Amino acid sequence: MKANVYVTRKIPQPGLDLLANAGLDVEVNPYDKVLSQEELTKTVRGRDGVLCLLTDRIDDEIMESAGAGCKGFANYAVGYDNIDIKAATSRKLPISNTPGVLTDATSDQAWALLFSTARRIVESDRFMRSEKWQGWGPMQFLGADITGATLGIIGAGRIGTSMAMKSVGFNMRVLYYDIQANEELEKSTGARKVDIDTLLKESDFVSVHITYTPETTHLLGEREINLMKKSAVLINTSRGPVIDETALVKALKEKSIFGAGLDVYENEPKMTEGLKDLSNVVVCPHIASATTKTRATMATMAAENLVAMLQGERPPNIVNPEIYK
Ligand code: GLV
Ligand code: GLV
Repeated sequence: MKANVYVTRKIPQPGLDLLANAGLDVEVNPYDKVLSQEELTKTVRGRDGVLCLLTDRIDDEIMESAGAGCKGFANYAVGYDNIDIKAATSRKLPISNTPGVLTDATSDQAWALLFSTARRIVESDRFMRSEKWQGWGPMQFLGADITGATLGIIGAGRIGTSMAMKSVGFNMRVLYYDIQANEELEKSTGARKVDIDTLLKESDFVSVHITYTPETTHLLGEREINLMKKSAVLINTSRGPVIDETALVKALKEKSIFGAGLDVYENEPKMTEGLKDLSNVVVCPHIASATTKTRATMATMAAENLVAMLQGERPPNIVNPEIYK
């Protein structure tokens, strides 16, 4: 009998083709929507493997429902905070992610948000469409300088490093906050490792790329946001809960910072009350990896990981390798 795998939502075709070509019986969620926890529990039951998304909460109950025959969960994302890794590890269940392939797409998006927030692109676009423009004016839509400014990177992993590397053409001074020193980053950009308070106080642009864990939850709270310059811009393409969104809305409302560019939210798909009414914020629906090529590559990568799991091999992008010890 063919092994049976479930894909929790339609992903780009190359990934689905790869699964089918591996001789698997593939079932895809027929609805273009996130499955409820109840639906997920039902649909994973008895599967040999599951390809899941960051919008699926894969907890111990879901793993229990998939059952002892399940060979693993392949997450279609680099982040895997949606999966209870501890539970998976104690079940010796492999979990994989899609690192590396979305690094450039994500740092590109962080730059897009940085530019559009600093230069008030979205606000200007809305203004033009409203047909209110009476002609050029010396005081219209004054924004923030990018060239020569200080860029603060919170979390200097692959994506944070890529973000910083792209600042070279803008002649920026780079500061970073991370537990580990990043020599590659220091060498190529002259970046300096600093504590988080220094980074917040000195940066004109703060870009968040840190992994979301219990320890980084609300890493940027009211106190930290208040350390930022009044002229500073905050960008987040990592995970929403790293920033206290209520504190951010307050700061934006009071104009204690210049603006924010957000791709992720504390309680997706919801936004904190008041956020959408502010003109000094640019909001995108978690689309940092959303380029045609990147999403197709992620699909292939997740599928390759799942096929390896089903063949009893260690998937190339295992996130809990300790299960093999
Ligand atoms: C997207 O947010 C991802 O983690 O891939
Ligand atoms: C995090 O997962 C990164 O790629 O920086």
